[in-house]
Amino acid sequence: MDKIINAISTLTSQQDPHAPLCAYIYDLEQLKSHANAMVKALPSNCELYYAAKANPEAEVLAALAPIVHGFEAASGGELNWLHQCQPQMPLIFGGPGKLISELSQAIDLKVDAIHVESLTELRRIIALCLQKQCHCRILLRMNIALEGIAETRLTMGGKPTPFGIDVSELDAAMDLLRDQPKLSGIPLVELVGFHFHLMSHQLDVERHLALMALYFSTFKTWCHQYGLRLPLLNVGGGIGINYADPQQVFDWSSFCVGLAHLIAELNMEDVKIRFECGRFVSAAMGYYVMQVLDIKHNHGQWFAIGHGGTHHFRTPAAQDHNHPFFVLNQDGLSAHKRQRVDTELALDASITPVLSNQLVTLVGQLCTPKDVLAKQQYVKSLAVGDYLVFTHAGAYAWNISHQHFLMHAAPRRLFM
Ligand SMILES: Cc1ncc(COP(=O)(O)O)c(C=O)c1O
Repeated sequence: MDKIINAISTLTSQQDPHAPLCAYIYDLEQLKSHANAMVKALPSNCELYYAAKANPEAEVLAALAPIVHGFEAASGGELNWLHQCQPQMPLIFGGPGKLISELSQAIDLKVDAIHVESLTELRRIIALCLQKQCHCRILLRMNIALEGIAETRLTMGGKPTPFGIDVSELDAAMDLLRDQPKLSGIPLVELVGFHFHLMSHQLDVERHLALMALYFSTFKTWCHQYGLRLPLLNVGGGIGINYADPQQVFDWSSFCVGLAHLIAELNMEDVKIRFECGRFVSAAMGYYVMQVLDIKHNHGQWFAIGHGGTHHFRTPAAQDHNHPFFVLNQDGLSAHKRQRVDTELALDASITPVLSNQLVTLVGQLCTPKDVLAKQQYVKSLAVGDYLVFTHAGAYAWNISHQHFLMHAAPRRLFM
C-alpha cells in the first residue's frame, strides 16, 4: 500500500496540477521476485518462457530478460519488438494465421522454434527454407481431445477451434516432414517437439497436473508411434489469476512438486519441458489507478465515474468480471497532495456526495454502458478525488484495450 501511495504522489507531483490522475503503475521488483520464484521452483528439465502478449512493455521485458529462458511472440510485430528490446533473448513464434512474411522474418531471426498451426503453414515453412537454403526448427501445435479433464473458463482445445493441428492430420504432417528436401544431407525443417496450449485461466493445481499428464503421455505415444526421439515439449501457459478472490493464488510451488513426480513417473527427464506463461507472470505487478471525477445516484444505484475506463483497461470487460480494487482516500495521501485534490476536484465538495458503507458501480468516462470495471461493490468511504486502485492489472490490460475510442488521453505509466 505504501508503495502505491508513494507512486501516486510521484505521479501527481510531476503532472499538471489541474489534471486528475489516471495511470498504470508497475511494480518491477514484485515482477522480478515472482518470476525468479517461478523459475527456481521448476524441476531441472523445465524452462519458462514469457508470453509477451500479456504485457510487452520494454521495462517489463528488461526486468524479465535475466530471469526467464526466452520470450514467446505471436506476431511479426511482437517478433520485431522483442528482438529490438532484448536482442540476446531466445524467441519462439506461435499463433494462427502467420503471414508468409512473418514466417520468413522468424526464420531470418533464427528463432528457437516456430510453432506450426496447420499443414499449410508447414508447407510454407518448408518452401521458405528451400528458397533461403537454410534450416529451421519447428514444433507441431496439436489440438487433442481433453479426455475427461475439466475445462477452464477459456479452453482453446479439445473441441473445434482455429488453434493447432487436428490429430487426424498428424500422419500427413509426418509425411510432409519425411518427404521434404534436404540441405547438406539434413532435412530443411527439423521437428524438435510438440506444442500444446489447450487452456487459459487455470486455477486448480490438480487439474493442471492432469493436463500435463495428458500432454506427457500423448507426447510419448507419438514418439513411439513415429519412431522419434524429440528433445522438446512445449506445454503452453494458461495459469490463471483468481480475479474474484485474488488472495487465492495458484500454488505454483506445489504444482512444481507434482510436476517433478509426474516427470519421474512418465520418464520425461530427458525431454526439455517448456512453459510459455503470460498472465500468471505479470498480472499481479500491475495497478490501474483512476481518480474519481463524479459520484451520482441513478435509478436507485450509486455510480462512481473515474478518470479513465475500459479504453485503457479492458480486462474486466473482456473477462466479464468485477475487477478487484481498493480505494485510496484522500486522507491516505500527503498534505501536499490533499491540498491539490481539494482545490482541483472537490471545489464542489458541499454538493458532491461522499459515500459511506454503500454499494457502488465503478465506471469510466466512455459513453457506453459497457464501460464498467466493477459492479455494485461495497465501499466503506468514497469521495470525488479519491483513487480507485485496480490490482492485477499487469497482464492483458493496457495492450488489449481499445485505446483510441473517444480519443481520450492515454494513462500515465510509472515503473517502480
Ligand atoms: C499459444 C499460447 N501460449 C501461451 C499463451 C499465454 O497464456 P497465459 O497468459 O494464459 O499464460 C497464450 C495466450 O493466449 C497462447 O495463445
